[in-house]
Amino acid sequence: MTASETDLRAGAITQPPIWLRDNCPCAECRDPRNGQKLFGITDLPPDLTVTNVSGTTVTYSDGHVSRFDPAFLEAQHGPDDRCEDAKRLWGSTDAPEHDWARFLSDPEHRADCLHAVMRTGFTLLHGVPAVPGTVLDVASEFGFVRETNYGELFDVRVEATPNNLAFTGLAIAPHTDNPYRDPVPTVQLLHCLSNAVDGGESGLVDGFHAAALLRAEEPDAFDLLSRTLVTFRFADGGTELVTTQPMIGLDPAGRIREIRFNNRSMQPLRLPPDQIAAFYTAYRRFAEIVTRPELMVTFRLGPGDCVVFDNTRLLHARTGFADSGERHLQGCYADLDTIASRHKVLQGQLAFARLRELFDGPGTADYLGEEVTQAQHMLQAAALAESAGASPELVVAALLHDVGHFTGPLTGAELMGGTDNRHSHVAAAWLAHWFDPAVTEPIRLHVAAKRYLCALDPAYAGLLSPASRYTLEVQGGPMTDQEVADFEAEPYADDAVRLRRWDDAAKDPSLTVPPFDHYEQRIALLARPGL
Ligand code: OGA
Ligand code: ZN
Ligand code: ZN
Repeated sequence: MTASETDLRAGAITQPPIWLRDNCPCAECRDPRNGQKLFGITDLPPDLTVTNVSGTTVTYSDGHVSRFDPAFLEAQHGPDDRCEDAKRLWGSTDAPEHDWARFLSDPEHRADCLHAVMRTGFTLLHGVPAVPGTVLDVASEFGFVRETNYGELFDVRVEATPNNLAFTGLAIAPHTDNPYRDPVPTVQLLHCLSNAVDGGESGLVDGFHAAALLRAEEPDAFDLLSRTLVTFRFADGGTELVTTQPMIGLDPAGRIREIRFNNRSMQPLRLPPDQIAAFYTAYRRFAEIVTRPELMVTFRLGPGDCVVFDNTRLLHARTGFADSGERHLQGCYADLDTIASRHKVLQGQLAFARLRELFDGPGTADYLGEEVTQAQHMLQAAALAESAGASPELVVAALLHDVGHFTGPLTGAELMGGTDNRHSHVAAAWLAHWFDPAVTEPIRLHVAAKRYLCALDPAYAGLLSPASRYTLEVQGGPMTDQEVADFEAEPYADDAVRLRRWDDAAKDPSLTVPPFDHYEQRIALLARPGL
């Protein structure tokens, strides 16, 4: 083992040199304007080694240096948000319901609605005007309409010469749509314009849950359905679509990721004769699970209702209805990736709006008797961090470091009255709803950093403002030797000390600094969905 390998193992860094170098965040390696990588794998030396590691700064054999954020190195690869692990599987759940007018006017409601489609697999929207074509307006709020051979939208009503059984009054068993398309449309919408018939009730089944039950009850059947290729086909005068995929699609780690289930369009199996019976037994088992009444949510679509669902996961069904009377739905398709994107962007905007309320409201209050308000103090700290070239995470940490004075049970007034309000911990816990440790950890440690600096450097205490010197005592006074050692072992100790220095300097009533809105993009990009 070389010295550098020993260093690598001893420290926080466990990734091999090639991984580190491929993920170097420096401006030479990634375009700072968009974060995109500026080189390819063949541009890197194949025999690259690490010659030095100091904290999370890595030097390579060709002289290049990478400075990593500790949280980035620790982050584990979570499951793909399309696979079963990222979902809430359900039996007959109460249907998530949303309201179209609120969806359009209330960003929290909209985020909740998008989230329902991602996690539960569907939502039932009410109050969508029963006007032909409106399903396209709904789809474009969720993403981009995916036009198909049926058009931008399709009418589901009884037709004289139906090219699809959906356009009759027959019952339709649980199925996914367009299994004969590759790629398959991943989201489906059905909007009800009228439903004045006997019958015509709707049903939804969580296909991931059904497949997981099959795996638990009959592992061999599950295995067969995930490995056997099945062909689906749709043909009419102008179209012939054919796709071959297993009914239960798995990701490379074996997690359920995509269901294709449609008896109407399934084609003859092309398997060796001795394998056919086993396939049919497995297929029958899955179909039996899928039709268990306790697994299905049933509801009746009325005019103005629109169901939006994940067509890679949910199976939809309807009961038959008599041809007399009017039943008219309009449907269209869209995609899940855009729903996830809109949800992420919206969460960022919501986090920004919530934080701005703090700055505009309680932030305007007096800051522990200093000559600046709470908000001015934090804006100054952020401006100092930005001028010092700090990472976006640390700039946002500086911007938000004192929100604990007005988000917890105890305020700054209580701190000045001699009771520690633990504002650094309160802020870090509250902000963890949106932000990673690279933002919250320096905040959690910014009071500790003051106690640390006082222990190390008596001159530092002399630089503190009178209020800060007073609160130092309430917060535990200078650190003991043991506390100093513990603090230095914290991965974000350096960032906390940097933040502390800006904090101490951010009390200047004559300073003009950028307003809160200046940080909008940074906050929106760093805030992740609070799931
Ligand atoms: C469809 C379908 C269900 C219904 O058009 O894909 O399954 O309720 N329709 O008519
Ligand atoms: Zn259908
Ligand atoms: Zn402060």
